[in-house]
Amino acid sequence: MSIVDDILKLKEEKNAVILAHYYVDEEIQEIADYVGDSFYLSKVATKVDQDRIIFAGVEFMGESAKILNPNKRVFMPDASADCPMAHMATKEEILKMREEYDDLAVVCYINSTAELKTYSDVCVTSSNAVKIVKSLPNKNIFFIPDQNLGRFVAEQVPEKNVILNNGFCPRHVAITKEHVLNAKKAHPNAKLAAHPECTKDVLDEADYIGATSGIINYVVNSDEEEFLIGTVDGVLAEINKKAPDKKLYLLKPDQICINMKKVTLDKILDCLEEDCNEVFVDDETRLKALVPLERMLELAA
Ligand code: 13P
Ligand code: SF4
Repeated sequence: MSIVDDILKLKEEKNAVILAHYYVDEEIQEIADYVGDSFYLSKVATKVDQDRIIFAGVEFMGESAKILNPNKRVFMPDASADCPMAHMATKEEILKMREEYDDLAVVCYINSTAELKTYSDVCVTSSNAVKIVKSLPNKNIFFIPDQNLGRFVAEQVPEKNVILNNGFCPRHVAITKEHVLNAKKAHPNAKLAAHPECTKDVLDEADYIGATSGIINYVVNSDEEEFLIGTVDGVLAEINKKAPDKKLYLLKPDQICINMKKVTLDKILDCLEEDCNEVFVDDETRLKALVPLERMLELAA
């Protein structure tokens, strides 16, 4: 039996479901029951019937799934697969901002630790951040931790005073305007689709800005043939599956998320065999972090 057969068999035996983010390797996406962006996966996590969730993604994703589903067992194939941006804000910054502004909402990108969520009013993902910030009654928005997504939201919702934090995604900010200009020179007919975690310089060159699911839909549904992809290369798998004739170009070598790459078939099998890397969130943190996550699900609906 192949490793894939072993995984599929054990998955049934243990009544587990595999959720995978678009950034993990194609072979992982292929064996997953659900593949999607962070918002889709957090919604799916609340709807699945199985007792166990194997989350092929990074820590904040498994943690959010556990917070939303305390009665399910959630496992991470690699316990060290973490998103560095998730740690790029502090509770002290939040408390200081709450002292400074009366009419303030702390809007927390889901790429954040459970602890940061406990100090926040609402979570967002890149696919719903604009909609949710627009819908909030507060004038002042402290957007943590991603400064680039925060600035993109601020531009889309000019009626709000969006205060930025200084977090960033090391993988997306490594894509520079120079990469884009060189790629445009090499492929003059290609349209640029970029994730809002990219810097302003890059986003100013984009034909489309959106979450991973948005980028995939834009490319798949467009009449154009050639695209420059301004996000992690994992999205190529889904685009190639849905629209194999499109020509896709990355902007630089190594356009990967090293943490998502830690998820392998071997580790998924281990996780199923050994019940290792289970996600635990203490009750106090869970109950507090649940509030902004549930508010996100409500406001994004
Ligand atoms: P999505 O919200 O598009 O899934 O993006 C998550 C992420 O980590 C982007 O770097
Ligand atoms: Fe975090 Fe960036 Fe990886 Fe997304 S691509 S999970 S923001 S490190």
